[in-house]
Amino acid sequence: MKDSPKPWKPHCCSSESKVSFSFSRCRPSRSEFSKNVAPCPSFRRLSFSDLSRSSSMRINEDIAQAFGPDLIDFKLSELRAMTQNFSSGFLLGEGGFGKVHKGYVDECMRTGLKAQPVAVKLLDIEGLQGHREWLAEVIFLGQLKHPNLVKLIGYCCEEEDRLLVYEFMARGSLENHLFKRISVCLPWGIRIKIAIGAAKGLAFLHGAETPVIYRDFKTSNILLDSEFNAKLSDFGLATMGPEGSNTHVTTRVMGTYGYAAPEYVNTGHLTTKSDIYSFGVVLLELLTGRRAMDKNRPKREQNLVDWAKPYLTSSRRIRAVIDPRLGGQYSVRGAKEMALLALYCVSPNPKDRPKMPSIIEVLESVKHFKDMAITCGQWPPASQKTSRNAVYSPKDAKEINGGRIYWKQTPVKTVRSRG
Ligand SMILES: Nc1ncnc2c1ncn2[C@@H]1O[C@H](COP(=O)(O)OP(=O)(O)OP(=O)(O)O)[C@@H](O)[C@H]1O
Ligand SMILES: [Mg+2]
Repeated sequence: MKDSPKPWKPHCCSSESKVSFSFSRCRPSRSEFSKNVAPCPSFRRLSFSDLSRSSSMRINEDIAQAFGPDLIDFKLSELRAMTQNFSSGFLLGEGGFGKVHKGYVDECMRTGLKAQPVAVKLLDIEGLQGHREWLAEVIFLGQLKHPNLVKLIGYCCEEEDRLLVYEFMARGSLENHLFKRISVCLPWGIRIKIAIGAAKGLAFLHGAETPVIYRDFKTSNILLDSEFNAKLSDFGLATMGPEGSNTHVTTRVMGTYGYAAPEYVNTGHLTTKSDIYSFGVVLLELLTGRRAMDKNRPKREQNLVDWAKPYLTSSRRIRAVIDPRLGGQYSVRGAKEMALLALYCVSPNPKDRPKMPSIIEVLESVKHFKDMAITCGQWPPASQKTSRNAVYSPKDAKEINGGRIYWKQTPVKTVRSRG
């Protein structure tokens, strides 16, 4: 069983506009997604509704027509051969939607397809929701190409089987590096590199002609190549952002506890600012080495944002919550800038959250700081008890010069009980 937070899904049968959610995935009967055949659309910009109710044969034809040789239509038998029949020895991991196996493409498999390792995701779909997420992944990743988005090489849709074939990411997920006990501690510079790479991926999505809202930004969806370049994966929950004068799209509430923005959870109103909130949560995970939601901790420490907020406004307080595994090998100035950035990103009011280009600018500056805490005499940390009195107000966050973040220090308030 995986110990990472699982995505929470709404009842699949509810309408897109209804805000309802439960922890369990709804599984309507298998036939539900294949009984209606949609008319064959001729398009380049493939849309979701075009394909969500097609038969598997029709879907393959439509995808092939839309993407041509850019996406390979694999046969299930080919994928079996590539993964030694999905053997456990080739298992890379397992998420809420099924298992991911390593596979090998050999050069004579298809003309134009080079020999390479790949990751094959076998979706454990038993209903419309799983099929929709598979389709969303094909539609988004088939069209969006960027060095910080994982490359979709191909897909397989045979009867009720749905598979996806990605470029293989040699270092797996950021989640594994940050939280698995056996992993070696990620150095500070690598953490910044990963944050910048993931930010560039998100900036690309938000900067599209019609912005794409990723909706599932979290450490398990940030994959790393052999040089720790970060790439976003899992577009199953991605959706098109608002167009024209609309300020938001209203959707069913889906995402992962601890990462989802509060206004989205409460109202279903989704904007790119919901992704910025999740980005802030991941920054906090990189800083503290703690999970967004950790049920194994005391109650007041379980939600990372709630726990960390009071510590984020000064270097002295940050020292108390920075990942102890770094052993003081982090930039004091860099940590302060990153903490303020994270605080700004998780502002309760979406309007107070920065945009991705500003975030990238701050992170790019952080990577140059060399004032390591251990050499500045700022390590080991102060005790957490003396650091909890800070008061945070999102109004104090200001964005100036289009990018830099400036923070007004709030005086520490002491609450005294009447005696
Ligand atoms: N392209 C890839 N290259 C290498 N490893 C991968 C690749 N894609 C996925 N993995 C591995 O498989 C694991 C499972 O991925 P998956 O996206 O199915 O689930 P998850 O992200 O952990 O959870 P969730 O279902 O909440 O998204 C990842 O954590 C990663 O270790
Ligand atoms: Mg994932």
